[in-house]
Amino acid sequence: MTQLMTLEQTRFLRACRRETVDATPIWLMRQAGRYMPEYRALREKYDLLTLIKTPELACEVTLQPIHAFDLDAAIIFADILPPLEGMGLKLEFVKGEGPLIHNPITSLADVERLITPTPEEALSFTLDAIRLTRAQLQIPLIGFSGAPFTLAAYAIEGGGSKNHEKVKAFMYCEPQAWHLLMSKLAEVAGHYLYAQAQAGAQALQLFDSWAGQLAPEDYRRYVAPYSRRALEIAKAAGVPLIHFGTNTGGMLTDLRDAGGDVIGVDWRINLTQAAAMLGDQVAIQGNLDPVVLFAPWDEIALRAKAILDQMRGRSGHIFNLGHGILQHTPVDHVRRLADFVHEYSERNR
Ligand code: CP3
Repeated sequence: MTQLMTLEQTRFLRACRRETVDATPIWLMRQAGRYMPEYRALREKYDLLTLIKTPELACEVTLQPIHAFDLDAAIIFADILPPLEGMGLKLEFVKGEGPLIHNPITSLADVERLITPTPEEALSFTLDAIRLTRAQLQIPLIGFSGAPFTLAAYAIEGGGSKNHEKVKAFMYCEPQAWHLLMSKLAEVAGHYLYAQAQAGAQALQLFDSWAGQLAPEDYRRYVAPYSRRALEIAKAAGVPLIHFGTNTGGMLTDLRDAGGDVIGVDWRINLTQAAAMLGDQVAIQGNLDPVVLFAPWDEIALRAKAILDQMRGRSGHIFNLGHGILQHTPVDHVRRLADFVHEYSERNR
C-alpha cells in the first residue's frame, strides 16, 4: 500500500493527472529493444515471441532500460500483436521483415470466426510479466494495447503496409464485417488494458499507430467509436489512459474526443500548436523525432530544449519520442537525453 501511495506521487503519474512536477518526466516508446546491447544479447538466445511469452524474460527486458537510464516509467515488454493470435490469427515475426499474419482477414466469414477470449485465457503471460515486474520496480509501470484500427490494419493487411489500401477498402466495402471486426477488437483491447491495470500497471497506453492514415471524417465515422469503447472499458480500472497516434496533426481533437487523459503526439506538429488544439483538459506526451537521436549531442539538446520551452508552464507534459526508438540509436544519446530533460526542466519551470 505504501508503495502504491508513493508511486501515485511520482512525476510521471502527477503529469498524467496535470499536477505540478519538480521536473518533466520522460520515458521512450519501445525503450526496451534492439538498440540496447543487453537486449541483443538475450535475442541471440530467444526469439521475440519467446521473450514476450516467458514472464521472467519479459520482466528482465522491461527492466533493462530502467537500469541503464534515468527514466520515469517502465513499459511492460510485449507487443501489440499477440492479442490477434488469441483471436485465431497465425502470427509470426519474420527475421528482418517484421510481423506476418499467415491467415489475414478477407471476408465477413473470417471475422465471424474470430474468437474473443478473456485476457486471462489468451494473454496470461503478459499479465504474469506485469505482476513479476511490479514486484521489482520502484517507478510506475505502463501496460498497453494496440487500438482497434491499428490491430485491424495488421489483421487485414497481413503485415506492415505503405498505403493501407486493403484495410481501408475493407472498411469502405464491407460495412457489416467492419463493424463486427472493430467491435470484437474494441472488446479485446479494452479488457486487455483493464486486466493489465488489475495485474499491477499504473497507466495504460492505447497505440493507434496508423490512425493518421485516415482522413479525419473517416476516423470519426469508422474508427473513433471503437477506440472510445476500448478506452471506456479500460477507464473502469481507474488509472490514467494515454491515447497515442502518429500523423494525427489534422485530427488531434478527434483523437482527444475518443478518450484518454494524455494524448500522444508525433513530431509532425509542434507542441504549441498541438496544445492549442487539445486545450487544457488533457496532458500531452511527446514529441521528439526519433531520428534526432542520430544527430550530434548539441543538436539533440537544442531540439529537446525547444520542446520543453514550448511546454513550459503547462501542467501535464510527459517527454517522449514522437514514435518508437529506432534500432541503431546511440545508447549514450538516450542516457544524456533523459538527464537533460530532467535538469533543464527543473531549472526552467
Ligand atoms: O515500448 C516498449 O519498450 C515495449 C515493447 C513494445 C514492442 N512493440 C516490442 C517490440 C511495444 C510498446 C510495441 C508496440 C508495437 N508493436 C506497435 C505500436 C507502436 C509503434 O511502434 O507504432 C506496433 C505497430 C508493433 C508491431 C511490430 N512489432 C512491428 C511492426 C515490429 C517489427 C518492426 C520492428 O521495429 O522490428 C515489431 C517487433 C518488435 N516489437 C520489436 C520489439 C522490441 C523488435 C523485435 C526484435 O526483433 O527483437
